[in-house]
Amino acid sequence: MKRVLLVIGGGIAAYKCLDLIRRLAEKGYAVRCVMTKAAQEFITPLAVGAISNERVATELFDLEGEREIGHIRLAREADIVVVAPATADLLARMAQGHANDLATAVLLATRSIVLAAPAMNPAMWNHPATQRNVRQLETDGVRFIGPNAGEMAEKGETGVGRMAEVSELVERIESLLAEEAAGADNGFGFLTISGTRGRVSSSSAPALAGRHVLVTSGPTHEPIDPVRYIANRSSGKQGHAIAAAARRLGARVTLITGPVQIADPEGVEVRHVETAREMLAAVEEALPADIAVFAAAVADWRVATPGRGKIKKQANAEPPQLELVENPDILRTIAKRGVRRPTLVVGFAAETSTVVENAQAKRKAKAVDWIVANDVSEETGVFGGERNKVHLVTAEGTETWPEMSKAEVAETLLQRAAGFLAQARESV
Ligand code: CTP
Repeated sequence: MKRVLLVIGGGIAAYKCLDLIRRLAEKGYAVRCVMTKAAQEFITPLAVGAISNERVATELFDLEGEREIGHIRLAREADIVVVAPATADLLARMAQGHANDLATAVLLATRSIVLAAPAMNPAMWNHPATQRNVRQLETDGVRFIGPNAGEMAEKGETGVGRMAEVSELVERIESLLAEEAAGADNGFGFLTISGTRGRVSSSSAPALAGRHVLVTSGPTHEPIDPVRYIANRSSGKQGHAIAAAARRLGARVTLITGPVQIADPEGVEVRHVETAREMLAAVEEALPADIAVFAAAVADWRVATPGRGKIKKQANAEPPQLELVENPDILRTIAKRGVRRPTLVVGFAAETSTVVENAQAKRKAKAVDWIVANDVSEETGVFGGERNKVHLVTAEGTETWPEMSKAEVAETLLQRAAGFLAQARESV
């Protein structure tokens, strides 16, 4: 049975925790709760205890509780620690590493995944101090959900600051635990961020601090006429995961994405584009960068002269002939730049046969440092799927990585890229 430790902060959204506990219990999770002093102004330990069916922990120096279950054990026994509502004050104390009450002591002692659900007034959320704390916590490996936009508890106040809904929280908790379980048994030590259970280890945390990472992601859409376009099946999941991983490693990240159905990663500057030519222009504009990862599935061709109006179907007429012209190769253009070439240029290769050989040839032809080659043939389910099986092709040779989630591929790739930059700096 998976164990959730819910740290309830002192905000009006604390009342949602009662429902959250009930939903998690229904799904078979064991839920223990810690309440801050301020949280007890909003809901009572009695109500929380009754719903969770467990003694609620509130005090750091509680003789009975310490004998029963100390804060270290509380922290260690949880598979995930959820902070909801994560108030501005609680986030500030977490970012500073305080441990002067049970909630912060538990958060400092845990090695489990920590998910924070901020909730506060929009002005407090947008304050540079809160944003700085959030960035720090993200760098420390804390995951965030929300806050959402909407009406605040205060009459007439709207903006970003509402705590994520209970259903969203439950979904995120489940996906983080699933991610964790997949990572734990993939037998690939260096990418599970060993032993730190979802938290980026302190040695690797700032690996990309001060760096600018540029990522392209998703497909491009090439218009045939105002309503039709040429596209491909790229979901953007791998590219977006790379942007998120770079952010977690402390980089400033620019993500240039074609049309996708997935959300923008948090803390990343996102430029939405449609066509290959728009993508190239956005990439050029975002330079300089230390690392550029080209994960987009750019359409190789576009229609030479897209219809200005919708092309009408005419009775008994021949279907229209589409003349195609080649799109600019964004990866090649950037990799072959004389000035402002990123220090590390990484391309992707989607192959269906002789994967490694084709990728090696592509690496040389496009003057790229690394190619991440994946097999997208029939049964692999890579396109649109959650997992990936790749080879890393470099000037030194080829490494075959075991199958892993796209998030793990991203994390591993970025850790390697950070190592490459560190070496490049040393050899200067
Ligand atoms: N790429 C790009 N701009 C293009 C085409 C591709 O930036 N117009 C980049 C992709 O983002 C990816 C790599 O180049 O990093 C893929 O190279 P590509 O030659 O398109 O290979 P595949 O699409 O894998 O396949 P093929 O060459 O066999 O068509």
